[in-house]
Amino acid sequence: MKRIAVMTSGGDAPGMNAAIRAVVRRAIHHGLEAFGVRRGYLGLIQGEFEPMPATAVSGIINRGGTMLLTARSPEFLTEEGQGRAVEQLKSRDIGTLIVIGGDGSLHGAYDLWHKWGVPTVGVPASIDNDLAGTDFSIGFHTAVNTGVDAIDKIRDTAVSHDRIFVVEVMGRRVGFIALEVGLAGGAEAILIPEMPTEITKVGTTIKQGRRRGKNSYIIVVAEGAGRGIAVAADIEAITGAETRATVLGHLQRGGVPTSADRVLATRLGAAAVDLIVDGRVGNMVGTQANQVSVSPIETAWLQHKTIDQSLYELALVLAT
Ligand code: ADP
Ligand code: F6P
Repeated sequence: MKRIAVMTSGGDAPGMNAAIRAVVRRAIHHGLEAFGVRRGYLGLIQGEFEPMPATAVSGIINRGGTMLLTARSPEFLTEEGQGRAVEQLKSRDIGTLIVIGGDGSLHGAYDLWHKWGVPTVGVPASIDNDLAGTDFSIGFHTAVNTGVDAIDKIRDTAVSHDRIFVVEVMGRRVGFIALEVGLAGGAEAILIPEMPTEITKVGTTIKQGRRRGKNSYIIVVAEGAGRGIAVAADIEAITGAETRATVLGHLQRGGVPTSADRVLATRLGAAAVDLIVDGRVGNMVGTQANQVSVSPIETAWLQHKTIDQSLYELALVLAT
């Protein structure tokens, strides 16, 4: 029986478990034997493999995090580390590896295939949603829901106290979470790395609004566009109004995956196995216009995923 392995790597994302489940069960459906690698590339180098019968993935579809655990592995960035990882797969006669993770993890999958000839398939999972080659990455939808839930709660206290709140959401290099959270939460301002904004301008608009009697505000800031605490201090200095900051941080990485993430992860996990069966390795799966899509793994970083500018402009219009 042909053997495949699956692992999760890099930052965890809600829905990774649903993807693992789909990989394992789809593999069994195709007559493949599935193995799980624990702790991403770290565990791959150390030989942390476990057999994955259908029962191994029972009861995980609704759980956040990843049952296979995840890690970051500086050693895998070295030639020697990659060589050891390849040996671990070969010694177990495992023919293909499915990597579920973000852009760094898919880089690793690319290396295994292009530098070492180990067949790999990538499954995009990152709450940041910053991988090209797919409209959505696993975990994004859940992280956005968590952010919106937080804003709804913060707005209650913001209104009660006539305060301004700055809510910092995740997004090291991109503003996908901030934009979506800001739109869905009705934020008055959204600060994202893609659209540099002058804080003075935001502060002045708030000052004018407060003169008209609009007393509470929510500003959503992506971590890559500025730290919430610093932005709050600037806004308070400009407006003279009480301003508080809330950093959502890793809250957004956990929690029960939404149905959208479970369905996405299920579709992508199964599609990854189908690619192996069809011999189409070296690719990543994704969705485009709600259809499963296939592109070379390197698409994830060679193409640049851009925010929908019209959504950003709409948020600005609606904020006035
Ligand atoms: P994510 O997959 O969430 O973006 P990281 O960027 O931390 O997370 O990457 C996860 C792991 O993938 C790293 O610890 C490293 O082992 C491997 N990796 C990251 N970047 C590369 C790269 N350029 N080439 C090969 N492997 C990489
Ligand atoms: O998964 C991506 C991300 O959520 C970024 O937005 C954030 O900066 C980063 O992970 C933090 O990850 P860690 O604390 O695991 O380094």
